[in-house]
Amino acid sequence: MADITTPHLKQTIRPNSSPCLNSTTTLPNNGFWSARHLPTIETARKTASHRRQVQRRCGSWHPHAPPQPGDDLVTALVEAGEEGDQLSEDELVAMIVLLIIAGHETTVNLIASGTLSLLENPDQQRHLVDDKAIMDTVIDELLRFTAPVETATERYATQNIELGGNVIRRADLVLAVIASANRDERVFATPDQFDMTREPNPHVAFDDGIHYCLGHQLARLEAEIAFTCLFERSPDLQLATPANELQWRETPMVRGLTALPVRF
Ligand code: HEM
Repeated sequence: MADITTPHLKQTIRPNSSPCLNSTTTLPNNGFWSARHLPTIETARKTASHRRQVQRRCGSWHPHAPPQPGDDLVTALVEAGEEGDQLSEDELVAMIVLLIIAGHETTVNLIASGTLSLLENPDQQRHLVDDKAIMDTVIDELLRFTAPVETATERYATQNIELGGNVIRRADLVLAVIASANRDERVFATPDQFDMTREPNPHVAFDDGIHYCLGHQLARLEAEIAFTCLFERSPDLQLATPANELQWRETPMVRGLTALPVRF
């Protein structure tokens, strides 16, 4: 499963026509460097240095190798402007890094953990194989149930507030646990059950409000393509390792498998 997720999505968000994002051979860690932005607890201290490394690399593409305009997102970002105001180099690099990390380290988990949920529920897997029209509903339930992004990024209180009987003081760190909100029994019946026919499904897997995921449509499309191709080619796909022996990545914020061995 690591093979059907990681390399393919890397191509999806880094189109060949994109001049800045074309320099795959010069990326640290052979292109899988976005994973390094999601530190394990042990490697948290190294994260800052990885970030600087990537930022230097992206920064060096911009001034020294001005992109040829193309029909791609990076060109659009370079050209974006309003009343003579354009993204600075720092802003451009930050946006590219954000897009690659946010775009890559999330959907890989939805696809792998989602496949696991389906394989653990053979009746529902069969239902999807027989009726691809329910794909949208399935993807929503997989987003809710598997929590590819487990917590939102940090927020800091701008004033003292009381929430759920607790006082949050001005400047306190607030970390919203999306995975928990998506299992809220006041909102979802049988929240710990995977039910791919669940409707309505008001999950917050893509967050809410002004930071609502910019790539939600792309993520849904990638997942739809992946599940459609996977179950068309291998309708009888099965787990090759007992689910309780699977390894989960020790990353804060995102939740995903290190690998999903399958038999077909
Ligand atoms: C299963 C896939 C995905 C999930 C579950 C997901 C989830 C999220 C969540 C929860 C946030 C809000 C974080 C916060 O408020 O702290 C977010 C923001 C964001 N996502 Fe995604 N995401 C996914 C895929 C993608 C993709 C494919 C892209 C783009 C290529 C993307 C780009 C972004 C960006 C740029 C933001 C920041 C938006 C802002 O702050 O205004 N995401 N995503």
